[in-house]
Amino acid sequence: MNAVEIEAAVSDLASQPFDGEEFPFAFLAAFGNKKTTIDRLRKGNTNASDVPNGVLQRNNIHVATCQPGAVSETLNALRASPKTTTAKAKFILATDGRTLEAEDLVSGETIAPDYRNFADHFGFFLPLAGISTIKEIKDNPIDVRATGRLNKLYVELLKDNPDWATEERRHDMNHFMARLIFCFFAEDTGIFKETGLFTRTVDQMSERDAANTHEVIGTIFHAMNLSATQRNADKPPAWADAFPYVNGGLFSGSIDVPRFSRMARTFLLHSGQLNWREINPDIFGSMIQAVADEGERGALGMHYTSVPNILKVLNPLLLDELREQLNAAGDNPRILLNLRRRMAKTRVFDPACGSGNFLVIAYKQMRQIEAEINQRRGEPGLKTEIPLTNFRGIELLSFPAEIARLALIIAEYQCDVQYRGQRQALAEFLPLNAMNWITCGNALRLDWLSLCPPTGNQVKMVANDLFHTPLDQPEIDFDNEGGETYICGNPPYLGSTWQSEEQKADLKAIFNARSKSWKSLDYVAGWFMKAADYGTKTDAASAFVSTNSICQGQQVPILWPLIFDTGHEIQFAHTSFKWANLASHNAGVTVAIVGISRNAGTTRRLYSEANGQSDGNLQIKVADNINAYLVPGPNVIVERASKPLSALSEMSFGNKPVDGGHLLLSKNETNKLGLSTQQRTRFLRRIYGSAEFIRGLERYCLWIEDKHLDEAMGIEPIRQRIEGVRAIRLASRDKSANEMATRAHQMREMNISQNWTITVPRTSSESRPLLPSGLIDSRSTVTSEAFALFDAPLWNMAIIASRIHLVWIATVCGKMKTDFRYSNTLGWNTFPVPLLTEQNKIDLTRCAENILLAREAHFPATIADLYVADSMPENLRRAHEQNDEVLERIYIGRRFRNDTERLEKLFDLYTKMTAVPSPTRNTRKTAQ
Ligand SMILES: C[S@@+](CC[C@H](N)C(=O)[O-])C[C@H]1O[C@@H](n2cnc3c(N)ncnc32)[C@H](O)[C@@H]1O
Repeated sequence: MNAVEIEAAVSDLASQPFDGEEFPFAFLAAFGNKKTTIDRLRKGNTNASDVPNGVLQRNNIHVATCQPGAVSETLNALRASPKTTTAKAKFILATDGRTLEAEDLVSGETIAPDYRNFADHFGFFLPLAGISTIKEIKDNPIDVRATGRLNKLYVELLKDNPDWATEERRHDMNHFMARLIFCFFAEDTGIFKETGLFTRTVDQMSERDAANTHEVIGTIFHAMNLSATQRNADKPPAWADAFPYVNGGLFSGSIDVPRFSRMARTFLLHSGQLNWREINPDIFGSMIQAVADEGERGALGMHYTSVPNILKVLNPLLLDELREQLNAAGDNPRILLNLRRRMAKTRVFDPACGSGNFLVIAYKQMRQIEAEINQRRGEPGLKTEIPLTNFRGIELLSFPAEIARLALIIAEYQCDVQYRGQRQALAEFLPLNAMNWITCGNALRLDWLSLCPPTGNQVKMVANDLFHTPLDQPEIDFDNEGGETYICGNPPYLGSTWQSEEQKADLKAIFNARSKSWKSLDYVAGWFMKAADYGTKTDAASAFVSTNSICQGQQVPILWPLIFDTGHEIQFAHTSFKWANLASHNAGVTVAIVGISRNAGTTRRLYSEANGQSDGNLQIKVADNINAYLVPGPNVIVERASKPLSALSEMSFGNKPVDGGHLLLSKNETNKLGLSTQQRTRFLRRIYGSAEFIRGLERYCLWIEDKHLDEAMGIEPIRQRIEGVRAIRLASRDKSANEMATRAHQMREMNISQNWTITVPRTSSESRPLLPSGLIDSRSTVTSEAFALFDAPLWNMAIIASRIHLVWIATVCGKMKTDFRYSNTLGWNTFPVPLLTEQNKIDLTRCAENILLAREAHFPATIADLYVADSMPENLRRAHEQNDEVLERIYIGRRFRNDTERLEKLFDLYTKMTAVPSPTRNTRKTAQ
């Protein structure tokens, strides 16, 4: 169940008569527990409660109902119960049907609402459903509720009016929903004369069977499009005349209303009964956006950008500086006035704005600063000078684009009420401004300069309403002569394999003339490039939330030189952090925030989450420059190299079979070859790829030296396999595979060691705390799914197994999905290591041996078993700690404080080492 479904179920429970015996089970059901789970609890099989009328669900909640007046006492009993502790309950809850008290035992937070209002606190209990909630959802139940109600209404209306679901009418449907949302908001915030006017009028004037609901709503909408003079002529019925003139395009144009079923009418009335005064336009907008999108409806917009994440973009981009100026201004009226004027001319532009949450937050924050200025200047309640139309956006989909405008209008009204008072706010609110400042269209195809013209250009306003004009025509200029532009947002990220043909074409249009390798770029790269191009024409700074892949591995050399060529530099960045809005929907997404500007200044700020989690534990590093890998230091781009830059052993690919599976065998298959012991030794080797090495899987290969080919061909099952290889190589469209058909008894390479091989898998899960490397014996070899250092000194393994090497690999090689992707040419050959003394090598060799011995102590545990974050065996963890200690002392004489410091050192060394031309080093273009 998602948060919205849970809210609906909890509200339903709170509205039913209280049944003390049934309540604990109904409560658990509302949070998504299955009937079988509840039946087992009911029968007492799994209910371990030791409190009268108590139900205890392991790892979850201990609930008890009680006699009237005994709630606090019962909660105390639940808290004191030893069973609460042993069953690791996260919550305790007691109720008598009049009040309800509960405690989150993890955070210590408590609630004590009247029973009938406890559904308002459903967010408090969401962890019970495995949803780790973000604060906004918890604090704004109204937004979740409103979304849930409107969602039901939307689905029901489409059921009754299938033609409204078609592409042609989709816009009408979205527009209708925007009108409804406006009415719900207006009737609860004093914009309509009486509270609840819209819902009550629909309830009273429409038949219970809903036959004329659409006519009643149509009449109200029509009235809201009539000015006072038009009303004299048009004479709407008295009950519709009670509604004010709203216009602003919201109620102009067609007032066609979909037909309502009895159910849809009920859903509409339920929606209206909520208190829309508390609606939070940034959160609500993002949630409601999902309503109009079938694919998204299940997730209900839960992956929208949360307010803390939006502020990670907006604060360093512009708000921090505005606040600093406010602080510096003190009470000086002239400086305060200048700041106010500056803000009045500042425009914020989100070219993937969704339902406008970045714009709404930027607007609200700037209004707050302006209100403080007015306060200090002794002008409280002054009309705002910040035009809403300076907050511009582009959005591909029409519904969010509509909602974005509405959200900004609501935000403006709420700010006016807050800073100027309800009376002033109302006096100036209606009729709505009729301008169109959110463009519906493809941001990668639209000309940003015409939507947000360079300061100094005047474009005349031609629109006469807000919602009626074609959405792809922005009609007004900004009132910002001489002002600044800030571009921000969270554009879509899509790796090259996930892009549609149209999206690929969008990127091609931007990058084809600039780069041959643009096809590897993520879709989000288009926004960075457009922002950089825009910045060459007018003063602007831009910052986007982005997949971190554009700052790692192969995308860096493609994208960033192009951005830097436009004169932009990285002004600030937020290094990778997990996207943690709602963990259950967003597992695996790692993002970064990158701000670029042509006037980046000399103090660049690099923000990083101490432990890679978005838990507010932020570190800030001030640097002269931030490079494309989001590391303090010069703008270096790491290039593939065919030989190690440092004095390391050579690392090669394992052996590529090119065999259609004929040269590789499971243990069972080796037995079926019918070989003598001597033949087994001669023709079979154990072979390791990533999976075999990490998970300890047994796999073998045919290993036939040329001198033994005749004997091998005499063994029928082997002969058949060799012929199988020959056939697939000949059939291949790859020329080099065809050529290999002449030696079908062998893999492409036949590399094997004399003594041992140090191996590193090509891919390894990012959740593993270190890169898995290890030793295999001289009777074994590796496939091309792993890299190999044949007969290399063991200290090489100590380097691969270190934290500092992992950090380098993650940065310069990047990831594939959520796996580290190792590369010898890009990761190993480029890895900078100080010159190692003989003693260093002896020390590192001992460290590698200790790691191997520590693993050995857990035989037969595999790498996958041993290298689990948080539960690595202590001896192994210590062996790695010691390894890191020894290696890091070689770099800087002490341990590094964090990964940023590690990378800083590595890039510094890399820059120095590559500055000296080396005869042994040459860069090459081949991708590995
Ligand atoms: C990750 S969402 C962010 C939206 C909003 N800021 C939020 O947090 O909910 C990206 C938005 O970009 C829109 N989008 C996708 N492709 C686009 C394009 N080519 N042009 C304009 N907008 C686009 C999507 O419809 C979506 O609303």
